[in-house]
Amino acid sequence: MTEAKYHPGLEGVIAGETAISSIADGLRYRGYSIDALADHAMFEEVTYLILYGELPTVAELKSFHQQLTHNLQIDPDILEIIKRIPKSAPLMDVMRTGASLLAHWDYEVDDGSREANLRKTSRLLAGLPVIMAARLRHLHDLRPMPPQSELSLAGNILWLIKGEMPNDDEVNAMDVSLILYAEHELNASTFTSRVVASTLSDLHSSITAAIGALKGPLHGGANERVLDVLQEVGSSARAEAWIRDALAQKKRIMGFGHRVYKTGDPRARYLKHLCAKLAVTKEHQEIEKMADIIETIVVNEKGLPPNLDWPSARLYYYLGLPVELYTPLFVVSRVVGWSAHVIEQLENNRIIRPRSRYTGEDAREWVPIELRK
Ligand SMILES: CC(C)(COP(=O)(O)OP(=O)(O)OC[C@H]1O[C@@H](n2cnc3c(N)ncnc32)[C@H](O)[C@@H]1OP(=O)(O)O)[C@@H](O)C(=O)NCCC(=O)NCCS
Repeated sequence: MTEAKYHPGLEGVIAGETAISSIADGLRYRGYSIDALADHAMFEEVTYLILYGELPTVAELKSFHQQLTHNLQIDPDILEIIKRIPKSAPLMDVMRTGASLLAHWDYEVDDGSREANLRKTSRLLAGLPVIMAARLRHLHDLRPMPPQSELSLAGNILWLIKGEMPNDDEVNAMDVSLILYAEHELNASTFTSRVVASTLSDLHSSITAAIGALKGPLHGGANERVLDVLQEVGSSARAEAWIRDALAQKKRIMGFGHRVYKTGDPRARYLKHLCAKLAVTKEHQEIEKMADIIETIVVNEKGLPPNLDWPSARLYYYLGLPVELYTPLFVVSRVVGWSAHVIEQLENNRIIRPRSRYTGEDAREWVPIELRK
């Protein structure tokens, strides 16, 4: 038998089929370009599209919104447990626990049917931001805010975090970032969610595992590290020297490079413009200037274009959101993609079980313990 070719990091390997998103011609969800969706849709509409395959009608969107609003009310016991987690726990770890906790209160946890998984997705989609915001507020000795039924999910997320009514620009910025983060083909966390689903485990287990995969700084954790970079650089005057020094030291620059987008991430291109606009109203043009200098040098010197995390960290900063929320916000949005992939996996399931190439010792004889050196 000839041995199959090994691809480190599974680069270029086609490890599944999907009808949810494609990256061959920009990024498209169910055939719609992310630019068109970010220009025209709200996050709920895009969520519906990703999960159900079609854009919703007015009536479908209304009923979906009502379902989500209802699901924003989570059992107070869940919030009580979340409060008791040691304050030193990173918020991403609390999100992972939160997804797992929601399972214990979900009456359909073991029902793997498409209909039950869609209902559970809506409960996770609403429950996770409530947990995220309540935990953040608890860390600052603030009480959780009650969800507002007249607000969209993006509006509610901002309200639940800050306890202030967001304006239209802020809601739009949050909507766009949630739309751009919602789904991205077979990235590491989505692959994780499909591997778990392929064993016929449950949706909450897939999401919990996916959150664990997203946490790493090479994946979702990058957006928090991007802010560290911007804060360390501090001013546009220092930007060139800082980035040249970092590149000379062969440092990995967070927010740059991508496994599949070698000539540019279409999400980053879109968000860059929104960031620049928000920077004007929020008076953060100096940060935009600093980011531009760094971006130009990394692109010119290394040929590495920015990925979505590069502008999104700035966008969240301009929205006045604390850095520990950045990767959890990615979770809140990507739950949509993960769930859609779990549902798709189950429609045509075969357990995911690849092979590895053995690089260990040749066959050895057993050595009794008293003879071992
Ligand atoms: C996204 C990422 C993990 C893709 O990794 P990958 O496809 O396995 O690419 P590799 O890590 O093999 O990198 C290929 C080359 O580019 C370099 N490179 C890739 N990303 C880089 C970065 N952000 N900064 C500096 N160099 C980078 C590597 O050092 C390597 O150079 P070499 O061939 O001289 O050793 C990688 O680009 C990265 O670590 N980026 C920073 C983290 C980040 O922003 N993640 C969010 C992704 S959406």
